[in-house]
Amino acid sequence: MSIPESATDFPTETVQEGKVHLVVPKLEAFKKQPSDYAPSKAPVFYNSVMELNRDITILAFQAFQRTANREISICEPLTSTGIRGIRFATEIHGTPKVLINDINEKAFKLAKHNVQLNQLQERITVKHKDANCLLSCHGAPHKRFDIVDLDPFGSPVPYLDSAIRALRNNGLLAATATDLAPLCGVHAKPCIRKYGGKPLRTEYCHELAVRLLSGCIATLAAKHDIGVRIVFNHSTDHYIRVYAQIAYGAKKADESIKNLGFILHCFNCLHRENTKKPFAEHAEKCPECGSKMDYSGPLWLGKIFDKQFCELIAKENTRVAFKNSGKITKLLTLATDEAEAPATYYVLDKITNKIALPVPSLQVVLQNLRERGFQAFPTHFNTRGVRTDAPALTMQDLLRKIAATA
Ligand SMILES: C[S@@+](CC[C@H](N)C(=O)[O-])C[C@H]1O[C@@H](n2cnc3c(N)ncnc32)[C@H](O)[C@@H]1O
Ligand SMILES: [Zn+2]
Repeated sequence: MSIPESATDFPTETVQEGKVHLVVPKLEAFKKQPSDYAPSKAPVFYNSVMELNRDITILAFQAFQRTANREISICEPLTSTGIRGIRFATEIHGTPKVLINDINEKAFKLAKHNVQLNQLQERITVKHKDANCLLSCHGAPHKRFDIVDLDPFGSPVPYLDSAIRALRNNGLLAATATDLAPLCGVHAKPCIRKYGGKPLRTEYCHELAVRLLSGCIATLAAKHDIGVRIVFNHSTDHYIRVYAQIAYGAKKADESIKNLGFILHCFNCLHRENTKKPFAEHAEKCPECGSKMDYSGPLWLGKIFDKQFCELIAKENTRVAFKNSGKITKLLTLATDEAEAPATYYVLDKITNKIALPVPSLQVVLQNLRERGFQAFPTHFNTRGVRTDAPALTMQDLLRKIAATA
């Protein structure tokens, strides 16, 4: 199908992703210098690197649909080229209705064209509105969605409240955040302002980022007497992604906000602990080495994966063949393993740097910890990361012993 004049007035090309073909901006045409980040220079945003994010989304939403065992509706209010919503309608069984939207007129026209290109006019509605306006119009009973997917520039926070209100009971919210400088503690102020929690620049700051976003979702949901469960998350490339299932009810909301608290961190010995005490009551001294401790939060201290949901996503992954299937398998294997592990992880290099030792193999460390009766799991957040209940000084001793016997 040729592109009608009205759909674009800028250079485009056709790409294939998953089972769909789409017209997208020809990124090369918008790159003036080699250092330019072409996706945001184009009049309509398109980033092929996010294919992995979209693939995992397809698997997660399919797992959700299969569990619901009925037809589901999905809203993607920040759609850009339409690629996500078009893939949802094409690749997820049991999704007769998808609503996509973008405030940018060029994006709206291109998304509309792409819907026609894939002959999905009957199943996908394309809107040209402000996302909050659109979501708010769907905040009443019988107008709500089973799933809302927020994939914004930067932070999803401006859209969280209306997205939560636009979800049916037991609905699923998926949100990407690319504003990792605030969330990982490089710029603390915007994180406190937007997410309501203090970040901390630690080796596990990406997990803190997931917990800060999750805490923010739970806090906003609770205002509407809605509880949340964080069923899946991942930290990949330049972004984090959180999947939260909501449940209506004041009691559910009360239960959910019981998961809020703080993570205390000692920059001297790397000890960390969770606390639900208000900050004024925190012990200032590290119980391991006596140094002053810093903190992150309030944030979500509860589970950030549901093991069963991880297994269901992994099962969906065996049913399809994506370009990224290998990477996804690895990620899902790690996520399933770490689902029930303690919060936060040590990064081996960080400890060995402190005590001037070579970095041992991750497998050796995991095995040694288990032999000593500790929990020990790798994590998808970091290839050198270890989730364990062993205290920081015990970790140091263990790494010394491993180095001595190597
Ligand atoms: C990161 S892009 C979306 C990428 C897309 N989801 C994908 O997978 O390729 C964010 C989009 O949000 C749109 N946007 C920004 N503010 C908006 C608003 N207030 N209402 C609706 N759309 C908005 C932008 O025009 C842009 O197309
Ligand atoms: Zn300490």
